[in-house]
Amino acid sequence: MTTEQPATAAIGDARPRIEGRLKVTGAARYAADEPAPDLAHGWMITATVARGRISAVDASAALGMPGVLGVLDHRNAPRLDPRAGNYFGPDGSLLLLQDDVVPYAGRPVVLVVAETPEQARAAAGAVVVTYEPYPHDVDFRLDHPAARAASTAFGPEADTGDIEAELAASAVVVDERYRTPEENCSAMEPHAATAWWQDGHLHAVDSNQGPFSVSQVLSTLFGVDRDHVHIRAEHVGGGFGAKGLCGPQMILAAMASRSFGRPVRVVLTREQVFLATALRPPTDQWLRIGADADGRLRAVHHRPAFALSPLAEYIEWCTEQAKTLYAAPAIRTELTAVPLDILPPSPMRGPGATPGSFALESAMDEVAERLGLDPLDLRLRNQPAVGPVSGLPFSSRRSVACLREGARRFGWAGRDRRPRTRREGRLLIGTGLAATCFSAGVFPSTASITAEADGTFTVAVGATDIGTGARTALTAVAADTLGVGTERVRIRIADSDLSMAWNAGGSRGTTSWSFAITQAAAKLRERLGDPARPVTTTVDTTALIDYQPATERHTFSAVFAEVSVDPATGEVRVRRMLGMFAVGRVINPLLARSQVVGGMIMGLSMALHEEGVRDPATGRQVNPDFAGYHIAAHADVPDIEAEFVPDYEPQDPLGLNGLGEIGTAGTAAAIANAVWHATGVRQRTLPIRLDRVLEDEGAEVRGAVGVA
Ligand code: MOS
Repeated sequence: MTTEQPATAAIGDARPRIEGRLKVTGAARYAADEPAPDLAHGWMITATVARGRISAVDASAALGMPGVLGVLDHRNAPRLDPRAGNYFGPDGSLLLLQDDVVPYAGRPVVLVVAETPEQARAAAGAVVVTYEPYPHDVDFRLDHPAARAASTAFGPEADTGDIEAELAASAVVVDERYRTPEENCSAMEPHAATAWWQDGHLHAVDSNQGPFSVSQVLSTLFGVDRDHVHIRAEHVGGGFGAKGLCGPQMILAAMASRSFGRPVRVVLTREQVFLATALRPPTDQWLRIGADADGRLRAVHHRPAFALSPLAEYIEWCTEQAKTLYAAPAIRTELTAVPLDILPPSPMRGPGATPGSFALESAMDEVAERLGLDPLDLRLRNQPAVGPVSGLPFSSRRSVACLREGARRFGWAGRDRRPRTRREGRLLIGTGLAATCFSAGVFPSTASITAEADGTFTVAVGATDIGTGARTALTAVAADTLGVGTERVRIRIADSDLSMAWNAGGSRGTTSWSFAITQAAAKLRERLGDPARPVTTTVDTTALIDYQPATERHTFSAVFAEVSVDPATGEVRVRRMLGMFAVGRVINPLLARSQVVGGMIMGLSMALHEEGVRDPATGRQVNPDFAGYHIAAHADVPDIEAEFVPDYEPQDPLGLNGLGEIGTAGTAAAIANAVWHATGVRQRTLPIRLDRVLEDEGAEVRGAVGVA
């Protein structure tokens, strides 16, 4: 890759979103807004048992209801090719309506199609599905008998040094379990698709994070050429991982459109989004950290388990931080998968890193506590010179800069590290911090740039803007790499016809698409002397990317939080929060800040609110809506400060590294550590609910209200 830095005008400038006006005026069209002639509507029915088979589907009443076109189930639905997969290979969660097997509660089992959504919904209520239930298992825990080693597709496990010997020689050992619950991505826009077939081609407007990859999945599922699948996702109201995959709305709309010969729209309800799309699996993490009396780590042993489904391989990669953040003579990771009868998990808001960093950074705080050390000092004392497990150099590691600058801005110096020492009236006040990292890199994408006759440039890249501002950022990248003003750049994204492109996911979207644009712009500039117009240059970066990891490439952050805890109610409130980030070069500080602040709000929400509750008796999630599944509301979110330390990624031609998810990772631990500092009690299970705080404050509360 070239290291030449382009002359910069737009990159680094704080500019509002290009499509902002369209969105606030309601002119931006989402997948459920797409007009289509003769449109029919599908309504999904989901399984109510966690494991079993469908013994009967009685649609006779529904078929006689007004407007009903038909009912699809496993007996009459189009056949799908089981070779179709997602990130981790073949994925049985895609194979809807193919057989009578029920693998999880919430599995779509029937689609009712009618002239209007109301008619489809009413008819769905008249379909009687009878199940033969089998025994199910949703009992998640690290020591589950079915627990097995997780896939190492993201890299080998760490096993350096002699863990037991180093722990035995340590002055202090923290040996604890940390738990995080099932969580739901909870994008504001529910999954929706409008699909139609024409001349053997499948067309759809779908709510997803990557129209190209969705088109690939559909091409396999339906046995049609990839070039005959045309998926658009022009505006998407959030994804957070749940729209990275080809969703049930898209598969069912495509099926129904084929069966009924009309365009079909499927829009999920909020409950269906919870039950049938994606979840972050629960984690149960065993961590042992040993340290010398002076705070040097001797051993880090991280054994996190996560739940998955037998339908599809999945990796909740909780071990990146243990392999990256701190030096120690012995480091061992053992990522563990527990197959259960649940909705297959998918990446969500910093997958792996977010629950993993909660465990590691809570445990680090416990090490500092037991040593009587400032948690900031403990982290500064254990910085690695090279990858602690890989031995590879870091391409850019501004972790210390984040910690030091964050501490300065937050006012960390002078903090009394003893817990339960600060009070305001009856409130207990505490502060905490966490450091973290998130893997960075680049994936293949294609970009085409056309120099038009009128002096403008059309930039086409199969990117997706799921609310991040990608469209705006890529316009700045194109303008600078072409050496023109942004007003001469027109950007086209979010269409699988624009050729192969990586998803808006893995914190790699903007970096990957920008790399393709940079390469296409460089090639086009060589041809601009030629007067012929229009002239187009296309670059596919597949062959330009070096996958041999010669360096450790990550983004870094430090998060600081101040909380108040009401010992009478157990209520935790975050009073202020600061995140310092090292994410490579920042393309647009306004949008970048919005992204990482959003991430920190998700981290706050994870720390205090979010919890998918599964009933062991039925195997069903019992809170699949925003009444039962709490997410942080405006009143829960304090003023949040986020800043970037100067950083430049040497492997990227523009110095970029990505910032999609680093805001989420780290935040929950910072809050949990602050709660410990306020109360003197460790909260090792998320969310930090009122009742969990009260259990430990019981004595004080009884005293306060005068009960013996
Ligand atoms: Mo993601 S959780 O980067 O789709």
